[in-house]
Amino acid sequence: MANSFLRRKDLDRIQADAELGTEGRLKRSLGAIDLISLGIGAIIGTGIFAVIGTAAAGGSSHAGAGPGVMLSFIITAVACGFCALCYAEFAALVPISGSAYTYSYATLGEVVAWIIGWDLIIEYAVGNVAVAIAWAAYFHQLVDGLGLHIPAWLSVDYRSAHQASEAVAAAGGQVDLNIALPFEAWQHHPSIFGIPLIFNFLAIVIVAAVTWILVIGIKESARANNIMVALKIVILLFFIGVGAFYVKPENWTPFMPNGLAGVWSGASLIFFAFIGFDAISTAAEECRNPGRDMPIGIIGSLLVCTIIYVATAAVLTGMEPWNQLGVADPLAAVFARLGLNWAAGIVSFGAVISMTAVLLVFQLGQPRIFFSMSRDGLLPKHFTKVHPKFRTPHVTTIWTGVAVAAISAVANINEIVELTNIGTLFAFVLVNAGIIILRRTDPDRPRVFKTPFVPWVPLLGIAMCIYLMMGLPTVTWIRFGIWLLVGLVIYFSYGFWKSKLRTRAADGGIAR
Ligand code: ALA
Repeated sequence: MANSFLRRKDLDRIQADAELGTEGRLKRSLGAIDLISLGIGAIIGTGIFAVIGTAAAGGSSHAGAGPGVMLSFIITAVACGFCALCYAEFAALVPISGSAYTYSYATLGEVVAWIIGWDLIIEYAVGNVAVAIAWAAYFHQLVDGLGLHIPAWLSVDYRSAHQASEAVAAAGGQVDLNIALPFEAWQHHPSIFGIPLIFNFLAIVIVAAVTWILVIGIKESARANNIMVALKIVILLFFIGVGAFYVKPENWTPFMPNGLAGVWSGASLIFFAFIGFDAISTAAEECRNPGRDMPIGIIGSLLVCTIIYVATAAVLTGMEPWNQLGVADPLAAVFARLGLNWAAGIVSFGAVISMTAVLLVFQLGQPRIFFSMSRDGLLPKHFTKVHPKFRTPHVTTIWTGVAVAAISAVANINEIVELTNIGTLFAFVLVNAGIIILRRTDPDRPRVFKTPFVPWVPLLGIAMCIYLMMGLPTVTWIRFGIWLLVGLVIYFSYGFWKSKLRTRAADGGIAR
């Protein structure tokens, strides 16, 4: 039995599977620029517009990095850089949909592939829950600034509203700006049969809209994404350019108010801002020249984002004392507090656009991973359906949309960000390990892009990912452990038995 769940896919066979029939085949329509754009679309979003505030100022479960959040960004970028080099080699070598899931199927065996596929749900779908929640918060503020008030009970989750009411009671009736919206929801909401009606309807609406766009087709999605990417870069440059005039260098001292520990937990949180460069690899099967374009797309987008992030962090922490940045919309709040409401409005608009782009890329990636898993028999065959007219995996796209929308209506953003980070870092560890293993098991296979200095680069990537994982709270580790256990139970009750590799092996095929 040990041998059977360690069965590995043959790389030639992976290619062959991708070419099989029309039902399981996606349309190749993306080029290098589309990929860089897809990457930036996934990377710049909630992390830089929202999580940066918590990373700098600290929260209930961790110390703030202060202006040292710039260092947090650099540490995380270096970790992601090592991982990006490994992702690039894999994406060029295995240019079909499925990302880390497919890579590990070829190198580490079926059970590890399943674990990664299951784990990637945390990165893509759970990550998108956080983005949808932050989107709703910024959108609420944006339309509020334009004079249109959406009731608070349709823009937050029940738990935040309840916590806000407790915080206000503890503060003797004082309403902190940061919790004004959930507190408003607590005070004014309808009830059904005595049950308070407070849920994030705005998050449901945006996820539904993105799902609809993705069912219609990838070319249309890539075009919409290109426009949003251009806009979000312009708006971050706007923040840096205008904000620079309001920087007071004394705000940069002390640089690390909580020492290296603060910078470390800041890095573990701000990692969320970098998630996404790897999402490009899920579109490899829809890419015209994956061997050349994949590495350009992954590394290029990571580089552009790092430069913009560090500059943004420098300006933000220079504008206000670090311990005042722990609000939901720090980039807009610093302008608003200076009385520059027009600038705050522009930034809020940019945040909404950026997060829409992130939602688009992750909602695009998740169904393609399900699609690959289903094509391999690890999930029901129903998931491999491609829409006859739009040629998109509509079944998995709609399932993902329903799940993300439902959870984001009720979930808490901070817990979701931490869970997303631990799950994603774990997937990165396995991908880096996969590069080392494949170089040993299959050294002669032609590689269009080679990770330099193997095994050192992947080993450093692994070490840095583990370092970032260890900066996350214990409760996050427990939640993650439970998630993996549930995944294993599902695998041994379904995928293990239905796996195509197993069926082929039984027919005298190629499982090894
Ligand atoms: N990197 C993405 C964001 O910050 C997930 O929204």
